[in-house]
Amino acid sequence: METLILKVNRDQPRGLEPAARILQSGGLVAFPTETVYGLGAIFNNETALLNIFAVKGRPADNPLIVHIYGLDQLSRIAGSISPSAEKLIDRFWPGPLTLIFPKKPEVSSRVTAGLDSVAVRMPSDPAARELLRLTGIPVAAPSANLSGKPSPTLGEHVINDLFGKIECIIDGGACPAGVESTVLSLTGTVPVILRPGTVTREDLEQVLGQPILEAGEGEVERPQAPGMKYRHYAPAAPVFLYEGEPEKIIREINRSLKEKTSGTKAVVLGTTENLSKYHNEWVLDLGPRDDPGVIAARIYQLLRFCDQFGADLILIEGIPEGGVGTAVINRLRKAAGGNVIHVS
Ligand code: TXA
Ligand code: MG
Repeated sequence: METLILKVNRDQPRGLEPAARILQSGGLVAFPTETVYGLGAIFNNETALLNIFAVKGRPADNPLIVHIYGLDQLSRIAGSISPSAEKLIDRFWPGPLTLIFPKKPEVSSRVTAGLDSVAVRMPSDPAARELLRLTGIPVAAPSANLSGKPSPTLGEHVINDLFGKIECIIDGGACPAGVESTVLSLTGTVPVILRPGTVTREDLEQVLGQPILEAGEGEVERPQAPGMKYRHYAPAAPVFLYEGEPEKIIREINRSLKEKTSGTKAVVLGTTENLSKYHNEWVLDLGPRDDPGVIAARIYQLLRFCDQFGADLILIEGIPEGGVGTAVINRLRKAAGGNVIHVS
């Protein structure tokens, strides 16, 4: 397939009409958002929706997020909007917060993977907004990576994964947040963060004025984001994540480096302040320990770089949870699969 590549200036997006026409006629378009790149199809075209799953190699039981331009589109999709949802929409939309609503019958079960709820988000990125405006129809979009790969945060990541497989790629450079949106379920008695992102638990609690839970916490029965069960966000090489006190992490990583078989191309991902403490040829800068927003913006780019570089082994310095740190550590744990080492 011929893939049309449209370069776009994120702040002054122009020339996206061909991409909108492709979407309207049932084609797939990858586009930048403030979080990561999305792989879009109009939400009401069954063939196009099927193609999203086929192209990504995505399991059919993993539902998609519907991206909207305006609130008038939300009323086509969501069966009801609770007062809590209204507060959050007021404060965080457009922006990197996905909310789960009861779905309207019009929403295909291909989008929701058979669930009676639907995930919706209104992105703030100007290029994404321009595309949604021109298209005039809500756009279902997962992240624009091949299933299992780190989400794309640069146009070239999408080109590497999807060139020749979809009709159009909009290349707008780097995505500022760098990790996928926060997914919040409001369907139970207590709001639950199904996937942490740059809209933090603290942000949400402040607006709602009530405590909320992270998936996996507490006793309450709650729905999970079906996608979170898959090994995600992973580069090809095995990843080992070290969590705990920084000094102990450094000691432990240096010990592992010493023990590795000679010829193993090991890459360390460490925080800025600790870079010089690792005894290794290749040490990459995650960003400052106390600025997880910077780490979030870089993390997928670094993981993909490790693949390109041909790393055999990736050792990562974990950072504390809390704020955006929770989203970072969540993605790093996924990348590591079971390989999480708690040092104490
Ligand atoms: O930032 C983002 O959210 C990006 C950009 C492109 O908008 N999109 C994205 O989509 O990350 P995806 O498909 O990679 O992740 C969607 C997540 C999955 O974990 C999925 O299981 C969950 O949202 N999800 C979708 N619909 C759901 C529903 N009805 N109930 C619970 N979780 C749902
Ligand atoms: Mg994804």
